[in-house]
Amino acid sequence: MKKRLGIGFIGSGFITRFHIQSFIGVRDADVLGVWSPNKQNAESAAALARRIRVGDCQAFNSIEEMIASPGIDAIWLCGPNHKRIENLEAIVKAIKSGKSGKGKLTGIAVEKPLARNAAEAKRVIELIEESGLLHGYLEDQLFEPPVVRGREILWRRAAPLTGRPYLARCAEEHSGPHNPWFWQGELGGGGVLNDMMCHSVEVARLLLTDPAKTRDSIKPVKVSATIASLKWSRPEYADLLRQTMGNEVDYRTRPSEDFARATINYVDDAGNPLIAEVTTSWSYVGAGLRLTSELLGPEYSLSINSLDTSLKLFLSRRVQGASGEDLVEKQNAEQGLMPVVASEATEYGYEAENRFFVNCFLDGKQPEVNCYDGLEVTQLLMTAYKSAEEERTIAFDPKAIENFIPAVARGTWKP
Ligand SMILES: NC(=O)c1ccc[n+]([C@@H]2O[C@H](COP(=O)([O-])OP(=O)(O)OC[C@H]3O[C@@H](n4cnc5c(N)ncnc54)[C@H](O)[C@@H]3O)[C@@H](O)[C@H]2O)c1
Repeated sequence: MKKRLGIGFIGSGFITRFHIQSFIGVRDADVLGVWSPNKQNAESAAALARRIRVGDCQAFNSIEEMIASPGIDAIWLCGPNHKRIENLEAIVKAIKSGKSGKGKLTGIAVEKPLARNAAEAKRVIELIEESGLLHGYLEDQLFEPPVVRGREILWRRAAPLTGRPYLARCAEEHSGPHNPWFWQGELGGGGVLNDMMCHSVEVARLLLTDPAKTRDSIKPVKVSATIASLKWSRPEYADLLRQTMGNEVDYRTRPSEDFARATINYVDDAGNPLIAEVTTSWSYVGAGLRLTSELLGPEYSLSINSLDTSLKLFLSRRVQGASGEDLVEKQNAEQGLMPVVASEATEYGYEAENRFFVNCFLDGKQPEVNCYDGLEVTQLLMTAYKSAEEERTIAFDPKAIENFIPAVARGTWKP
């Protein structure tokens, strides 16, 4: 059995850089490669990995070349949503062609969302199965230290004495994503619902699931959802968005939702009804990214707010520096009383997430958080879009949304 895992990244943008930083807290892996169509960005991400000493990393000229490199044991797939299938096809082709080192890779970890819709998610599964690799679904928020710790304590101390929890509320909100493709429904697969509700759905589900049981011990029954464009299709904000993101992002004519909520009814293996309430928005202006979770049971509750930080800075009006994201992800201000997330890669779960997948791959063990989970999340999100479009509660039935493409992703949504 290998003692260290050599990792190659596909994509060299925002999330790859976050992952690379998190590897400071992962003992048994080295970040050895990055491929991205923009060589300069790939070089810059590789230089970051070398600078912070998480691996002797190099930028590769192609996916095939990276997979053929003897040090690379696993791929972290972190390209944009609309390139997921193309990237996976290239990986599978490279694995199958002898010269790229057939059978040499151990595993692949795929960023959220698994795909843009259920049909694409099924194609991801087909390709993963064809590859024969171990696979992980990169859902960092399942590994957030307060989520993991809070769940462990409540399920150990409170649930056995007074009964299981019944209601989870999870939200992720910020003021909007950093690159144009996220804002274009066709490329992202939708708006904030596809981009961020995948996180909240999984955190709520995790909190409601007995740690001694498997994920399928609670089953989704029905979904009711709403989507809206609350801020970014207002004319002044649509114009601002076009100025900052480019002409292809035109929310006067082709908006995506910047708000989404869903209620998912679950039932557990004893027939108890459970509820997950999830909310996401790109129309929240606070200090920066805000992740909140609550778990309610008969005699207890839990609450988490990522902006309730132990570190806060006060900067007077005379401190007039350049805008940045050095205090908190998706930061909106540089003055006044500002919360600082001291170690974001740890707090948002990336560090524990990467430690978990590295250990699974080194042990030759299929991770419990894997692409089949990503498929089910996609099916839930598509049911939510359908519910929002039809303005009714919809029974969870993966067959019914097999070929469903949200109107936002088709560019036909009229809020
Ligand atoms: N877990 C999280 O919280 C989280 C946060 C942000 C993004 N993400 C996910 O990570 C993925 C990447 O998002 P990001 O924020 O890094 O985006 P980004 O726009 O910052 O970076 C995308 C990267 O992909 C590269 N790219 C462009 N075309 C490509 C292609 N054909 N194949 C491979 N790579 C290509 C770009 O050059 C860039 O380096 C998305 O699926 C996104 O949903 C997850």
